[in-house]
Amino acid sequence: MTTFAQRYGPWAVIAGASEGTGRAFARQIAAQGVACVLIARRGDPLVALAEEIRANHGVEVVTAAIDLATPGALDEILAAVGAREVGLFVSNAGADPNGSRFHDRELATWTGLVQRNVVTVVGCCHHFGGLMRARRRGGLLLVNSAACYGGGSFLATYSASKAFDLCFAEGLWAELRPHGVDVLCLVMSTTDTPALRALLAEKGMPLPPGVASPEAVAEMGLARLPDGPVQNWGAAEDEAGMAPMSAAARRARVLALDQNSKFIFGD
Ligand SMILES: NC(=O)c1ccc[n+]([C@@H]2O[C@H](COP(=O)([O-])OP(=O)(O)OC[C@H]3O[C@@H](n4cnc5c(N)ncnc54)[C@H](OP(=O)(O)O)[C@@H]3O)[C@@H](O)[C@H]2O)c1
Repeated sequence: MTTFAQRYGPWAVIAGASEGTGRAFARQIAAQGVACVLIARRGDPLVALAEEIRANHGVEVVTAAIDLATPGALDEILAAVGAREVGLFVSNAGADPNGSRFHDRELATWTGLVQRNVVTVVGCCHHFGGLMRARRRGGLLLVNSAACYGGGSFLATYSASKAFDLCFAEGLWAELRPHGVDVLCLVMSTTDTPALRALLAEKGMPLPPGVASPEAVAEMGLARLPDGPVQNWGAAEDEAGMAPMSAAARRARVLALDQNSKFIFGD
């Protein structure tokens, strides 16, 4: 039996760890004996979380205040991580705080979102995933949203970035599974995070009923990390009526594509 720490330790990097689901991921990963590099823009909540985790779980914790939406983010992450061996990368930062139509915001708003949700994620997966492939173990967990399944008003750039992450995770899952590296696109539903509450408060809207708790979402993500490429919060693998989103259907499609790709490109 391989333990979580043997499979995904000794260090995890959690991008977007200062609150909500990211904080829940950090606490649960540390509880498994894995040391953490915590990243977000605000340093103070990261430092407070680091102290709490060290006290509760006795693992090492490093914090780094980095804006993932800037072009230099990857270099800053790599500098913060240094020579530590990273066996788990969690990409959690990624919500759209704007709730706006595309042309009602400056272009820089949307290019920043793409930088954070796409470019920085690709860079981290290339770096950490490459080292995991060489070591033949590890995990990449990309937190996603049901917005990944299609575009809509108020969601154009956000859903497009999430669709990228969905296909990216599926492709990486197919490529890395022969090398012992797990890849999961965790599709969240409405979850009670500070970011969601802030957006709803700005719009004068109440918290909808039945929202998920960050702790439950993180628990599911870590438990199902070996069961990629996609898992949907609150839905069974092949739940009727949600064929395009069905985790089982997407896995079957990726495997079929993989066979086809091998025919064209070789093993
Ligand atoms: N909440 C929901 O209902 C919901 C639903 C579906 C999917 N999701 C997904 O769940 C994930 C977490 O969402 P969330 O609601 O917690 O909101 P979020 O705005 O993604 O915040 C999560 C964490 O990311 C950090 N963060 C955000 N932007 C950052 C940046 N530019 N650079 C560095 N860190 C950054 C935040 O800390 P700082 O502010 O300190 O930087 C926070 O610690 C996202 O990927 C989102 O798409 C959420």
